[in-house]
Amino acid sequence: MRTEIHISGLRKVYGQVTALDGLDLDIGEGELFGLLGPNGAGKTTTIGILTTRVLATSGTAVVAGRDVGKDPVGARRMIGVVPQRPNPDRSLLVGENLVFHATYFGIPRAEASRRTDALLEQLGLTDKKKAKADALSGGQQQRLMIARALIHEPRVLFLDEPTVGLDPQARLALWDVLRELHGQGRTIVMTTHYMEEADQLCDRVAIVDRGKLLALDTPSELKAKAPGETIIEVTLDRPLPDEPLSLAGVTRTEVRGPVVRAFAERAAAAVPSLLSFAESRGYAVKDIHLSKPSLETLFISLTGRKLA
Ligand SMILES: Nc1ncnc2c1ncn2[C@@H]1O[C@H](COP(=O)(O)OP(=O)(O)OP(=O)(O)O)[C@@H](O)[C@H]1O
Ligand SMILES: [Mg+2]
Repeated sequence: MRTEIHISGLRKVYGQVTALDGLDLDIGEGELFGLLGPNGAGKTTTIGILTTRVLATSGTAVVAGRDVGKDPVGARRMIGVVPQRPNPDRSLLVGENLVFHATYFGIPRAEASRRTDALLEQLGLTDKKKAKADALSGGQQQRLMIARALIHEPRVLFLDEPTVGLDPQARLALWDVLRELHGQGRTIVMTTHYMEEADQLCDRVAIVDRGKLLALDTPSELKAKAPGETIIEVTLDRPLPDEPLSLAGVTRTEVRGPVVRAFAERAAAAVPSLLSFAESRGYAVKDIHLSKPSLETLFISLTGRKLA
């Protein structure tokens, strides 16, 4: 994979506060990349530097071949930014917001108008073209911000906590939009507080805290690194006596009526012994469910804190 974003030794100090403490990170072309971390971790600062809004104290960041410190104007042409809080021009109509923004980038009027229509269509806002930006719902405003960020066809799209404050339906709709943009090959960098979002959406996730990178991998690899045990829940056809079971590969069990919950280091060893136990006692297995160690458990073990 070609590197689209290269971050090396990046530091940002605000007075007494070290917001970024020597961050090294490479993000590949076409990746949907997630920055995950608790409040004050340095996520927005990282996005701020990469999008030329914040000056680094030291270190380098290169986005789409442009050093953001040395060539901010060049870098800005390569990137689109969706801010944490939607900030459309509320005095303009939805379509005008996009056409107006295009003129900042010197895009000719006819082309701006063509792109506006295409983006409104892609983001499900065609019927809102002549509405006041103010009249949009939170989710629609967020989608307008994405359309605006894409009007100059940037190589990299940055989104800072794009789904904060959205209801579950609007959040899922936004996930679909991001997946579609990802499918078109655009590099996307987003920050999030939500484990599930990082897990469902991102190719790779960086866990940051106190300005440092704590872990970097695909969600499934990160989860595999999570400490703790897999929980295997087996539902039988009738209740069992409520007493602990001693089974190979199982650390301990809890019995509740027909449900046996087994804790195991390795599910592959525990599942067969649970099944043969049930069979030997004449129970039929109705259901079996595995809960793996999660990003959440890894996060807590790395940072000592919960995410939100
Ligand atoms: N303009 C600023 N002046 C002083 N300190 C700042 C400034 N911006 C950020 N900080 C501090 O830098 C640290 C990192 O902040 P940052 O906003 O990057 O974190 P974040 O991960 O985005 O947090 P959140 O999840 O709350 O958005 C925090 O301690 C914050 O208080
Ligand atoms: Mg932030």
